[in-house]
Amino acid sequence: MTAETSAIAAAAGSGPPEASGCGPGLAPDDLPDGLVVADEHGRVVCFNAAAARITGIAPGDALGRPVGDALPLQDLEGRRWWQLTDPYGGLAIRRGQPERNLLLGGREVLVSARYVRAAPTGPVRRLVIALRGTEARRRTELSHAELIATVAHELRSPLTSVKGFTATLLRKWERFTDDQKRLMLETVDADANRVTRLIAELLDISRIDSGRLEVRRQRVDMVAAVRRHVQAQTTAGQRPDRFLIRMREPLPDLWADPDKVDQVLGNLLENAVRHGAGTVTIEVGPADGTSGGEGTSVTVSDEGPGIPEESMSRVFTRFWRGSKRGGTGLGLYIVKGIVEAHGGTITVGRAPAGGAQFRFSLPVAAPAFLG
Ligand SMILES: Nc1ncnc2c1ncn2[C@@H]1O[C@H](COP(=O)(O)OP(=O)(O)OP(=O)(O)O)[C@@H](O)[C@H]1O
Ligand SMILES: [Mg+2]
Repeated sequence: MTAETSAIAAAAGSGPPEASGCGPGLAPDDLPDGLVVADEHGRVVCFNAAAARITGIAPGDALGRPVGDALPLQDLEGRRWWQLTDPYGGLAIRRGQPERNLLLGGREVLVSARYVRAAPTGPVRRLVIALRGTEARRRTELSHAELIATVAHELRSPLTSVKGFTATLLRKWERFTDDQKRLMLETVDADANRVTRLIAELLDISRIDSGRLEVRRQRVDMVAAVRRHVQAQTTAGQRPDRFLIRMREPLPDLWADPDKVDQVLGNLLENAVRHGAGTVTIEVGPADGTSGGEGTSVTVSDEGPGIPEESMSRVFTRFWRGSKRGGTGLGLYIVKGIVEAHGGTITVGRAPAGGAQFRFSLPVAAPAFLG
């Protein structure tokens, strides 16, 4: 064992490195995060490649030096971190420091530390410091900023129209005929619906992203649900012969959240009608080969242009839309979130007739529910 690997083993507090299950061949330079280890005298004995990349300090300049000199960390107010935390002299029960955003010569670094003691309240034998760059966090912040920008943009266009028409009607009420006023009010009504729908979708997304989407399971008759959705489409003006429902028996009982199953079916059918073409075939059958064992699968296929191969991996991401004719691009993201909250899976592919084919499978019920 080299001094470095023994330092990692000691840091893990679990004897030889093999005990961690990581195997004897793991070297500090294999770690994706920065690792700095100081011995009982506070001298740097390990400074891995990622630490060098994150800090811009060469290992040769750090090894053997007091850790406070080798890593002159400061908090965001400019105070010297080593003085604040005092790992070797502080409270003897302290086991480390939680992750903090610190500064190192103008760079931001995420730092956490672990104090390894010989005995629970004994002196610090090793100081193990983990360093992470802030790019990952910045990327998350950037994606939040993008989300806000997109949402603001999506909300603005219907609201601009609502504002425009209401202002015009208020100013020039007498000058318009009843038909013109009706048309404007219908547009205002449709745009208000769009805003309401968008807000409902955003709430769903925030629940999906934070894992708070609630699934209230009841017995669901999937074939009946599909029939209802086809009926709704024909009532809304689609030709009845545009839809074909197929059923493969025997169907197992399904316990799922009926409102959410409706959302999934509604979105997939609407997409097939709006983005696809030709006959829309909906096949309901037992799910074969899903990881949860028994379940129900639903396949929605159309005869339209389909989804290009290179875009298939992106259809379930939020705000992705293939053409200008698309809506907000949130539908399939929510569909996937709902299916996965049920413990199911969804895939996209090419239909036999060339269009898009979406297939989702729901297990009979989640194992936790059955238990
Ligand atoms: N059946 C289909 N055939 C061809 N393209 C499709 C089909 N279904 C979805 N797409 C493509 O995938 C994109 C994303 O679909 P998604 O349902 O997420 O969003 P949307 O329908 O554009 O908007 P929203 O559902 O939020 O109103 C669509 O814009 C469309 O380009
Ligand atoms: Mg859609």
